[in-house]
Amino acid sequence: MCGIVGYIGSKNAQDYLLSGLKRLEYRGYDSAGIVTLNGRPSLLRAKGKVAKLSEMIASHKTSDKVGIGHTRWATHGEPSEANAHPHRAGDIYLVHNGIIENYKQLKQELTEHQFDSQTDSEVLAALINSFYNNKTKLEDAVTQALQLVDGTYGIAVVSDREQDKVVVARQGSPLLIGVGDDETLIASDASALIGHTSEAIYLNDGELAVCTADSVELRDLASQPLSAKVEKIEVDMQAIQKQGYDHFLLKEIMEQPQTLANTLKGRVKADQHHAQLGGLNMTDDELREVRHVVIIGCGTALYAGQLAAYYLERLVDDVTIEVQIASEYRYRSFNLPENSVALVVSQSGETADTLACLREIKNRGARVLGVINAVGSTIAREVDGGVYVHAGPEISVASTKAFTSQVAAMTIFGLQLARAKGASLMELDKYIDELEALPGEIKALLEKITPEVEQAANKFTDYNDALYIGRDTLFPVALEGALKLKEISYIHAEGYAMGELKHGPIALVDDSFFEVALIQDNWLFDKSISGVQEVNARGGHILVVTNSTEPIEAEMVIRLDSKLDVLLPMLFNVVLQLFAYYVAVSRGTDVDQPRNLAKSVTVE
Ligand code: AGP
Ligand code: GLU
Repeated sequence: MCGIVGYIGSKNAQDYLLSGLKRLEYRGYDSAGIVTLNGRPSLLRAKGKVAKLSEMIASHKTSDKVGIGHTRWATHGEPSEANAHPHRAGDIYLVHNGIIENYKQLKQELTEHQFDSQTDSEVLAALINSFYNNKTKLEDAVTQALQLVDGTYGIAVVSDREQDKVVVARQGSPLLIGVGDDETLIASDASALIGHTSEAIYLNDGELAVCTADSVELRDLASQPLSAKVEKIEVDMQAIQKQGYDHFLLKEIMEQPQTLANTLKGRVKADQHHAQLGGLNMTDDELREVRHVVIIGCGTALYAGQLAAYYLERLVDDVTIEVQIASEYRYRSFNLPENSVALVVSQSGETADTLACLREIKNRGARVLGVINAVGSTIAREVDGGVYVHAGPEISVASTKAFTSQVAAMTIFGLQLARAKGASLMELDKYIDELEALPGEIKALLEKITPEVEQAANKFTDYNDALYIGRDTLFPVALEGALKLKEISYIHAEGYAMGELKHGPIALVDDSFFEVALIQDNWLFDKSISGVQEVNARGGHILVVTNSTEPIEAEMVIRLDSKLDVLLPMLFNVVLQLFAYYVAVSRGTDVDQPRNLAKSVTVE
């Protein structure tokens, strides 16, 4: 996933392009560039963060009114100035998000172009230019070129020969067109448009638009005109700023009481024993018929699904629940039984592998529901129904508040399913009561435990290897906690089912490792203590997180004090989010934009 911006209007193009790239940088940030046109193109590109590009712009200011820009997350060719976008071919400049799958075959035919980069994107620029002769309009050259392309793209194209337009097109990678006063703004994410306009056209796959300062002409790839639907952008400025925190990650961890309350608002009312999601587009009769649920996602969204699966299987006993890794599932010859429902879980709503599963399952005729955070995202627009988790924009690359809201939303789905199947209120009340209490419990936890977690982080920060272990509903939490630690601190952390340790991983236990053991004071407590003892017996360095008041042999014990039971794992997860954050801060990594990562992976 990268960031794409474009501008044409009455104001300074460089100003919007740079501010937009800064807002989109979290989506991909190994290099960046812009080009603006006004008789003499000004092409500026830099390896590294947008700050490097900003320095270049400061010493190459123009008053140009049209241009495009890009932050890159490299797929073809290393991060470098030469591989940075925009790419040039003749009079044409192009920025691209996605992958041109057949770029090698195309490149072989483009013998007249002098390639300066290793990217697939430059091939597309050269292909467009090969159709762009003096009699051809830019949009027609783009259209002809895209007929030959296999793969995914979100592109913005400008030409030194036609400086009164920006041509954009989309196939599999998001693009929005902001409609302003005497200006048109392009972005791959709504956050770049905030403060400029609150109205945008969301491009769909197979669509192309010719943007001028005061018009947007939408068409398909057969050059047939399409009507443009202008929609409201639902993101506010506050939501995309740090608001006093050192990092977006800490802000997003700390705002979970509020963002979770937003997820639950109108959906959970304990005093009325009510738990209902609007927007599923399923009647109670249809819910009653459900016999199989497959939950699909990547990374944190996957682990949210794995935790939710434990809740769903306890709430409904005539439904089988499976959880699948999207990047694997999409290629498997899977069988979906009759009366299946798929839940696709995605914070960004743009993850290519998850989107591919959605489309494959729909092709098979099964119903797909979305559990999505980003409003108006591609997945949200293609599912048969579903739920926005309303956690607000998640800017830090590491996902935190979305996990909490996703698990809550899927638990409400389980309650609704159980209710439709005749479950008694008494059976469901425990979950409904705990859901309603959860925002307050997270708030109390954050107020009390943060110093202790920071102390633990400082104690374990110098290790380079870690094992996170938990049983039952704490196993997915161990997986998610390990992912948090590895992606922001670069410590090699593995999540494991505690019971699996003795089947191999315990061979790793020595002084170079530390272990995080998650222990809930419930029916598995004694078994969990055994797991900790096994590690202790081999000289482990253990951090125990528990709600038990029992003495536990470990290097450090963080104790949670909460009335929660079934949803207590959600508090364990918040502790592990904070732990990863403080370890990363202690190790001096780029907490909000860790190396090699992007916020939303729209490439495969
Ligand atoms: C989580 O911290 C990671 N940034 C990553 O695993 C992420 O969860 C995954 O790429 C899925 O993203 P999505 O929820 O936007 O689909
Ligand atoms: N595939 C293109 C490249 O490697 C675009 C990557 C991106 O989406 O940033 O440059």
